[in-house]
Amino acid sequence: MVQVTELGYMGIGVKSLADWKRFAADIMGLELVEGDAPGRCYLRVDNWHHRIIVDEDGTDDLNYLGFRVAGSEEFREMQRQLENAGVKVQIGTYEDANQRHVLELMKLSDPSGIPIEIFHGPHSQPNKPFHPGRRMHGRFVTGDGGMGHTMLTETAGWEKTYAFYRLLGMRGGVDYRFAIPGLPKPVEAMFMSCNSRDHTLAWGFPGVKRINHLMLQYDQFDDVGLTYEIVQQNKIQLGITPGKHANDGMYSFYIVNPSGWQNEFGWGGREANFQSEYHDRDTYGHEPVKIEPANASDKPRSNAAE
Ligand SMILES: [Fe+2]
Repeated sequence: MVQVTELGYMGIGVKSLADWKRFAADIMGLELVEGDAPGRCYLRVDNWHHRIIVDEDGTDDLNYLGFRVAGSEEFREMQRQLENAGVKVQIGTYEDANQRHVLELMKLSDPSGIPIEIFHGPHSQPNKPFHPGRRMHGRFVTGDGGMGHTMLTETAGWEKTYAFYRLLGMRGGVDYRFAIPGLPKPVEAMFMSCNSRDHTLAWGFPGVKRINHLMLQYDQFDDVGLTYEIVQQNKIQLGITPGKHANDGMYSFYIVNPSGWQNEFGWGGREANFQSEYHDRDTYGHEPVKIEPANASDKPRSNAAE
């Protein structure tokens, strides 16, 4: 069975490109690359041409996730694997692939209607070392673990969603089962892995947007501290206070971005382990913060494939 190897890139839609450019460069520390179409810009996290494609389309949500396979043979094998399981796949044109700066890509949807792209051959630019948008002590951790991890809002039912991402070669399980006052059943959260990173994909929390958060990992603990200070100075809304996750052992905090979903900034942590275990709370910290209405997610978005 062929497997995806990493979360390679993501496309996001935003209401204000100007706000996002400022946020990405000055708060997150990402490198801006001007887009090749009106209302578009690219965000670099490492030496790839980009990891995030930002389109000013007014949606303030995730547009698509790009998962990598190793090469052209795995790409064709993945197509067969998906089609044999009854998943509709559209092979992108040369122009489609060029636009994403990859050699080849295919487009499909996950069971919740979230657009997924599978690609191989990202445009890597070692001649253009990552240049952060503001001072950093170190760099982002990418490499074999991909750009980071993301939590989605699953709406199709866990069995279908799990089966779909299993088909992409991921595996995982419930890492958290915890009681929430007022809810009849404990809430569970699901985490799936496709490489050494503890998890690449998670779901389990209700939400009105396709995406709950994107986690980017620093290689220096001091960058978590520096970013936290910049967040405080700029009065950016915190989503979850600093703390340590019980599942991946990562020290992190969360902030609300200009689109109303969250960015997590982490350091440390352990690699994926392939036996299941669950937790009923984090190691320490990570208190959810009441989000001010101005920053909160407003309207539900249809998950119709696009
Ligand atoms: Fe996370």
